[in-house]
Amino acid sequence: MKKIVIANWKMNGDQDLVRNFIRRFGANLNASGEKTGDVKSEIVVCPPAPLITYFNELRDHSAFFVGAQDCFWKDCGAFTGEISPKLLKEIGCKYVILGHSERRTILAETDDMIYEKWKAAVSCGLTPVLCIGEKAEERKKWREILEKQLLQYQKEADLHGTIFAYEPVWSIGTGQIPTVAEIEEVALFVRKVLREQPDFRVVYGGSVKADNASEIMKADGLDGVLVGSASLNVDEFAGIVDVAN
Ligand code: PGA
Repeated sequence: MKKIVIANWKMNGDQDLVRNFIRRFGANLNASGEKTGDVKSEIVVCPPAPLITYFNELRDHSAFFVGAQDCFWKDCGAFTGEISPKLLKEIGCKYVILGHSERRTILAETDDMIYEKWKAAVSCGLTPVLCIGEKAEERKKWREILEKQLLQYQKEADLHGTIFAYEPVWSIGTGQIPTVAEIEEVALFVRKVLREQPDFRVVYGGSVKADNASEIMKADGLDGVLVGSASLNVDEFAGIVDVAN
């Protein structure tokens, strides 16, 4: 199966960065700026919400998709400031990141809220990229933490292609990454917890860079990576995409 490489710009980037991405990936160029022909991996860029339409207008038929970084659990109503999954679909999003640890921590999102968002997103035809992962102080009991975060999805009859992104919180933005063996163990664990489900993928996120991507992607059972800060630099991101290809 094709590897997927997802860029999470967080609250960074501007129209200039969008144009740089389009110039590089719209033309299918590799890290050295050469034409690669068909991009084999699936590339998804999740810019801040105000840039989504601009991105989609410029990307035309190029080889990557656009996603959002969050959505609300209703598709319309009196919810000032929230983002409707239905509108995200309408403006051309294919994916939506849900439950990122920054939202869990800074905005106090709970597993229940994230599950409500997941239901709303899939009912609008978006594919969720659902983030799970333990904090530094929870490292010894990561199984328990992940199992709790995955609980609601175990009961679902259809996961609608959900991408579960294992993002250990201690690895995000720190340069510390788990070993390949540890990533494999988690990927296997997620697959075991969700064993009744046929339709989902597992990716890894946390300090993924061009120079560690090939090591990380050796992990068995891993379908791709979710990239934060390294996705803000087009050359660095292109290096990661080259590895996935
Ligand atoms: P990072 O962020 O790549 O900057 O560690 C990953 C993420 O938070 O999705």
